[in-house]
Amino acid sequence: MSRLTRVKDTLPGPKSRALLDEWHNYEANCVGYQAPLVWDYAEGCLVTDVDGNRYLDWTSGVLVTNVGHCHPRLVEAIRRQAGRLLNNYDFPTPERVALAKRMVETTPPNLDRVFLLSTGSEATEAAIRVAKRYTGNFEIIAFSGGFHGRTYAAASAGGLPGPKKGYGPIMPGVIHVPYPYCYRCPLGKSCDACAMECFDVMETIVKAASTGSLAGVIVEPYQGAAGFIFPPDGYLKRLETWAREHDMVLIVDEVQSSYGRTGKMYAAEWEGLRPHLMAIGKGIGSGIPISALMSEAEVIGVLGPGEMSSTAGGNPVSCAAALAVLEIFEQENLVENAARMGALMKARLLEIQEKCPYLGDVRGRGLVMGLEIVRDKRTKEPAPDLTRQVIDRAAQNGLLVGSVGIFGSVIRVAPPLVITAEEAHESLDIMEHVLTNLAA
Ligand SMILES: Cc1ncc(COP(=O)(O)O)c(C=O)c1O
Repeated sequence: MSRLTRVKDTLPGPKSRALLDEWHNYEANCVGYQAPLVWDYAEGCLVTDVDGNRYLDWTSGVLVTNVGHCHPRLVEAIRRQAGRLLNNYDFPTPERVALAKRMVETTPPNLDRVFLLSTGSEATEAAIRVAKRYTGNFEIIAFSGGFHGRTYAAASAGGLPGPKKGYGPIMPGVIHVPYPYCYRCPLGKSCDACAMECFDVMETIVKAASTGSLAGVIVEPYQGAAGFIFPPDGYLKRLETWAREHDMVLIVDEVQSSYGRTGKMYAAEWEGLRPHLMAIGKGIGSGIPISALMSEAEVIGVLGPGEMSSTAGGNPVSCAAALAVLEIFEQENLVENAARMGALMKARLLEIQEKCPYLGDVRGRGLVMGLEIVRDKRTKEPAPDLTRQVIDRAAQNGLLVGSVGIFGSVIRVAPPLVITAEEAHESLDIMEHVLTNLAA
């Protein structure tokens, strides 16, 4: 049987090695660990490096290229627009108007305004500000392990130390509460005996910490950077009800979970959530930087003209790209494909878990799954060294993966949503080979 992947070198190949050496002399060394290779070009789910090695991709960049790498219709839309207009700042363009309408039409019905930006951090930062302006309060409830970006308010709301380390006190008013990390439940519960006691703990913390100035709660539908951690069914709906009872703005951070990733257009749909604000990004441009804050008109209406805008918000190339992405989603039923391929992949990953002593947990839905690597399934001791081994060996065998997690011990399974059954099986064969041959 012919294979899609081909790795002829011991990585890095000669051209990659030369470029990596040069790169380390010039670019700041503050980005995350990647397998040693230099990307050249990519198409669909396949990435080719500068040495001609070809890999299947479980990264989608970082959950960005949802319609597949360099989808021809996306590339054509970008080319066409780039030849006509490159910046217009706050002026409208036909593409901007069309995109705003389409985006409002696709989000939960209460979200009837869009504010266009460039990065996910900008969108969550804006959401926090809007929540404060709208309520006149300043306290933000946020979750430990959360990641909302690297700007000041976004990083302050985040519950991981990396984006805050060494920058002095975080934004005042953030109250961090625990997120339900069921594989490592701090209350020692098992899923069948869970009555969401962690929700009661969360409420108790807020009661003890709040000075009575609650503005909003910001939450990821699943925690991405913390390790693809999914809350139990019903948790987010309960959070929504609780937020509304306390007159708080509910901000759902769908920067990485939106546009089909979980097998629904928005992860909020799984529980029929009606957030006041929703931040989206990454996949909405599928490679071109664009993000957005979706809002109820009344909530964002608290901002007057000139009170918020961004140099590249509504950029014509980004808008043309985002419009093309929405069209591709419809034409190719990508949400449905994500659900179908996700189910296929999860079933096989659960089988692989039985054979691999280090694969502690397989979790997720659609095409976003986490593989938690542990030293021992009983003690659940995290194994970041083995996780790095998985990244390197997977690449050597033709599969690109990245890692996340509070302990750096979770492999990301997040291929482009165009993945076919053939590509899924070949990539799973590679992962099975790697996981069942780990050297502890
Ligand atoms: C949930 C979530 N929010 C916000 C961000 C920040 O997005 P950006 O890196 O585009 O600023 C990310 C990025 O990984 C994210 O996963």
